[in-house]
Amino acid sequence: VPKKIDYDDRQYAVYAQARALAPDTVAAWAAAFRRHAGAPPPLTAVDIGAGIGRFTPALAETFGGPAYGIEPSVRMREVAERSARHDRVTYLPGTAAAIPLPDASCDVALLYLVLHHIPDRAAAAVEIARVLRPGGRLFLHSVFLERAPAVLWHRYFPAARVVEEEIFPPFDEVLATFRTAGLELVTVDRVHHRFANSLAEYAARLKLRGVSTFDHLSEADLVRGFAALDADVAAETTPRPVATDLELMVLARA
Ligand SMILES: C[S@@+](CC[C@H](N)C(=O)[O-])C[C@H]1O[C@@H](n2cnc3c(N)ncnc32)[C@H](O)[C@@H]1O
Repeated sequence: VPKKIDYDDRQYAVYAQARALAPDTVAAWAAAFRRHAGAPPPLTAVDIGAGIGRFTPALAETFGGPAYGIEPSVRMREVAERSARHDRVTYLPGTAAAIPLPDASCDVALLYLVLHHIPDRAAAAVEIARVLRPGGRLFLHSVFLERAPAVLWHRYFPAARVVEEEIFPPFDEVLATFRTAGLELVTVDRVHHRFANSLAEYAARLKLRGVSTFDHLSEADLVRGFAALDADVAAETTPRPVATDLELMVLARA
């Protein structure tokens, strides 16, 4: 069983820089959320495992209502409160299985790269269903075991695939977990996500190790991978963006 990642330990200090999103990438996700909101704004949003608030202000802006960022790591939350402030956003301590909001108080919920950190997914699904109003939507972005996206760093760190196979559940298992809790699949959409504007920028970001999968890799694998990546960076003459399409699973509360 892969070790649990404590975001208070190291990730909080590098996450903002390592995982910064370009405004147009945030906008691409926000447009997908808007497409699948199922109701007109104003809507109340909850960002579960909000981290440093990469998406929370965008949820408030997109849906025009209050947005709550629920985050268990004190230090991730501190970064959010400092760097992702918004007059309709409130960051609160909590977890996916213990959301400090009333029953049926939210119209939309976001779970973005958080599923694999949740120890009891069934309990979290029940809790998410509790805070959503009937008809409310869950936007879930994760990696699914058998449909891993074509992310470039897999080429340099092949051992990451082995780690990910242990961390990420298959699509049908996730669907079954949420179905049992009263959420039905609406659709799976795709969002164009740009990680960096060049391979050089991509490599610099990866070296901050703000991707929790790296915390599971051996030092030898990391050294080998970064050496290969550096060689490709040195050979990059025309900067080319590093981007791929990522999946967004949309579920509706019955
Ligand atoms: C990869 S980060 C993603 C953060 C944010 N959603 C984003 O995309 O920037 C994962 C976050 O999940 C949080 N987390 C860990 N366990 C959690 C749980 N049981 N419930 C909710 N969030 C959790 C971590 O503290 C961390 O901030």
